[in-house]
Amino acid sequence: MDIQFGEHKLPKKGAVVVGVLAEGKLTPSAAELDKLTGGALARALASGKFKGKKDQLAELIAPAGLTLSRVVMAGLGEARKLDAAVAEAVGGRIQAHLAGTGETEAAVLVDKIKGARLAPHDIAASLAFGARLRSYRFDKYLTKEKPEDKPSLKTLNLAVPAAARARKAFEPLARIADGIFFTRDLVSEPANVIYPESLAAAAKTLAKLGVEVEVLDEKAMAKLGMGALLGVGQGSARPPRLVVMQWKGAARGKDARPLAFVGKGVTFDTGGISLKPAANMEDMKWDMGGAGVVIGLMQALAGRKARVNALGVAGLVENMPSGTAQRPGDIVKSLSGQTIEVINTDAEGRLVLADALWYTQERFKPRLMIDLATLTGAIIIALGHENAGLFSNNDELAQRLTRAGKAVGEPLWRMPMSEEYDKAIKSDAADMKNVGNRAAGSITAAQFLQRFVKDVPWAHLDIAGVTWSTKDKPTVPKGGTAFGVRLLERLVADYYEGR
Ligand code: BES
Ligand code: MN
Ligand code: ZN
Repeated sequence: MDIQFGEHKLPKKGAVVVGVLAEGKLTPSAAELDKLTGGALARALASGKFKGKKDQLAELIAPAGLTLSRVVMAGLGEARKLDAAVAEAVGGRIQAHLAGTGETEAAVLVDKIKGARLAPHDIAASLAFGARLRSYRFDKYLTKEKPEDKPSLKTLNLAVPAAARARKAFEPLARIADGIFFTRDLVSEPANVIYPESLAAAAKTLAKLGVEVEVLDEKAMAKLGMGALLGVGQGSARPPRLVVMQWKGAARGKDARPLAFVGKGVTFDTGGISLKPAANMEDMKWDMGGAGVVIGLMQALAGRKARVNALGVAGLVENMPSGTAQRPGDIVKSLSGQTIEVINTDAEGRLVLADALWYTQERFKPRLMIDLATLTGAIIIALGHENAGLFSNNDELAQRLTRAGKAVGEPLWRMPMSEEYDKAIKSDAADMKNVGNRAAGSITAAQFLQRFVKDVPWAHLDIAGVTWSTKDKPTVPKGGTAFGVRLLERLVADYYEGR
């Protein structure tokens, strides 16, 4: 779908969208259309449930007095609550609605709203961002989809006073959307297409945006001593990779140490010898969600030329059972030198991250380090699909992440950590074991990770419950969500970018 910003005037054909505020208050454009149609909008408002609430839409088809095919009234809610998040959600709903109508082109008339927090050009940019995010589809393998089942909308025109300013406000948002779409693509691809080497190759395409990308192969990792990561990959015919992506956007000499983002990239998680049950195992194609977010985040930051030094590291492996697979009870030596007794080969993500985290802090001495991982089923039991789990050794970082998440609709809920929980992973045979008992499974996983973090401010986001969605949301169609890209992009923008 194409997005355009143009003059604030009524088109002659196609669909037009106008805003209606809470309690049925028409915006100026809606009032104008109401006049041109002899009061059709007011009558529609009086006759039904549509009252301009922020999740409501109503439409008039082929209204008399106009050459337009359709007028959609989009509820904006209360003017004083109309912020970027509300405008994005409205934009998403407009897109989803129009895509199913058969209309190929639509114009949204964006007005100045008295009492709103946003100027019209910012409202337009946010509407466009929401529409763009909702328009995502992973349909490349649907070879028999009928044209009438495909989304019809090809062009969305935002008609706004100060179109040039709206276009400018939308530019960085479009680049963030690019990063989100890249992540959603990577997460949606099946594991016969995305495996460590092909995911590393996908990351390499970021070079076109000025990101420096290095890929470590098995040999390089063995030489360094990444026994924990390599142990997970050893059962697969697909060799593991470690991807390092650097975006150097900070002004010279300023804040040179990078912000580090580290992702779990298990391109398929069968559980290994501790094999998972068959039901829903196909979901484990998105067990590389953390790595997918890190790659999409780097694309977003580089795409909008963020003034920050950012580092992305992705540990890529496939966890398979085979004659060469690691066994329960195996003891591996991690890059840190610490030994790990692998009690359960299905607790593999933490083994991958153990080496990726250690490598990141030793080589780059980052200002802070944030990992993302579809790490535990237990976080879904604790938080469902609404919040990702946040674990941190640093209150300031935890608070910043929480605020950024709230601002972009990717909420985090902080979970506790302590020495007491850490006791669960004591082993008699090695420095630690890779699982605790059943209690507090997400926390003991985080305690495990913390053993590979020295004194750098660190946060771990357990995104197992939020990486994939089974239902449509206003700006996130069902499927891969890219949860984390917006959140971390906002964290960078709000707290770490020299402006
Ligand atoms: N990738 C899974 C966690 C997961 C489960 C992600 C469901 C998304 C949806 C992870 O590698 C795993 O298997 N964790 C185990 C840990 C257990 C063996 C301690 C789990 O959660 O059951
Ligand atoms: Mn697993
Ligand atoms: Zn896993």
